Amino acid sequence: MLSARMDKLSLRPHLSRRPSAPLSGRASVPGDKSISHRALMFGALAVGQTRISGLLEGDDVLRTAAAMQALGAEVSRDGADWLVAGRGIGGLTEPEDVLDMGNSGTAARLLAGILATHPLYVVVTGDSSLRKRPMGRVVEPLCAVGAQFFTRAGNRLPMTILGARDPMPLSYRLPVASAQVKSAVLLAGLNSPGFTEIEEPEPTRDHSENMLRHFGAEISVTDAATGRHIRLRGQPELRGADIAVPGDPSSAAFPLAAALLVPDSHITISGTGLNPLRTGLFLTLREMGAKLTVTAQRQEGGEPVGDITASYSELRAVDVPPGRAPSMIDEYPILAVLCAAARGTSRLRGLTELRVKESDRLSATAAMLRVNGVNVEIEDDDLIIHGTGAIPGGGLVETHMDHRLAMSALVLGQITAQPVLIDDARFIDTSFPGFLHLMRGLGAQMAAA
Ligand code: S3P
Repeated sequence: MLSARMDKLSLRPHLSRRPSAPLSGRASVPGDKSISHRALMFGALAVGQTRISGLLEGDDVLRTAAAMQALGAEVSRDGADWLVAGRGIGGLTEPEDVLDMGNSGTAARLLAGILATHPLYVVVTGDSSLRKRPMGRVVEPLCAVGAQFFTRAGNRLPMTILGARDPMPLSYRLPVASAQVKSAVLLAGLNSPGFTEIEEPEPTRDHSENMLRHFGAEISVTDAATGRHIRLRGQPELRGADIAVPGDPSSAAFPLAAALLVPDSHITISGTGLNPLRTGLFLTLREMGAKLTVTAQRQEGGEPVGDITASYSELRAVDVPPGRAPSMIDEYPILAVLCAAARGTSRLRGLTELRVKESDRLSATAAMLRVNGVNVEIEDDDLIIHGTGAIPGGGLVETHMDHRLAMSALVLGQITAQPVLIDDARFIDTSFPGFLHLMRGLGAQMAAA
């Protein structure tokens, strides 16, 4: 009771209102969150030094850096770069205290994979949002590897992990399209003998596979009728490597969306990751008639990168198939804002997984739009948005400790008749430190309320 009240006292409400001029300019967004977590983790499991440029210095990733340090790796800064002196596979040591992964599901689940094949006693927890999220999806396969997990009811954090001394390699078909689960199993496979095999019915982001290869692991990926097969040879020697983290396409989505929405805007976000398993939003936006162009396409650190330019566009409604969800899973809140501004009824299908993100994003996204006068329905796991092109606004959006809801609502306020108020901007820093500064630099009107 008391802590909930104290938490409310430290909320940071923010207001977003229509800018008086179009958005313009060029900017780059912070490093990719998924790649940043992995660079620190794989670096800690490698022999020798890993140098990371462009690491996302958001709260989620800093938790991973602290956890790797607590497990015995040396993590330090060298100017703008980060250095990790790894312990080698199987070489992590028992931490002195509980590992608190804050708001980050990726950090908690990938860490569970690493720890499943280290014979250590480790307790993992998180903030009140993360403590609500299901861990069963990693606990179940990692128990089959030989690890023991003790969790709160419903497989929630805090959880205690007793890693296996003699791990078994796993053959596992993913029951949910989740790169976090896939990566947890691969990370456990690193310290298991023989081959770890995974079949994923729908391809999910493949940053773990790309980076493992980059660190010298033997990993093959083949497509079959039943899905994508991944095969990792256990106990390789990972060698420290240089990693250049591209800009996060999931963060770039917010300024790009604002430029599509505010009349006469024209902006470029440079150096954005364009991994095809992450670009479902851009495909969807093109179907909506968005003017988006990609220039200066290049490969950086095994990932495709480019500069994305967005110009104001009259958007039309869209029907997004469920199979596209893994390639844009984090982009539905901002897509819903774009659909509210588009003319016609949009249907975003098959969004079960949104219910277990940093918040129940399906309900919270619908509530964000409703409180601002948009007509929205949830039908089973589909989100249906009736766009009229004119949004009243004037609502107070509850962000539920969810960074992407907070940023989506602030973008929404750029085109509503009345300003949009959010209850709390603090969690934006988990993935996009500097968001408000960047948006204001492009001409957006967002400020503390
Ligand atoms: C992530 C995978 C996605 C995504 C999350 C980051 C990752 O989660 O929502 O923000 O880095 O592997 P799921 O794999 O659970 O869908």
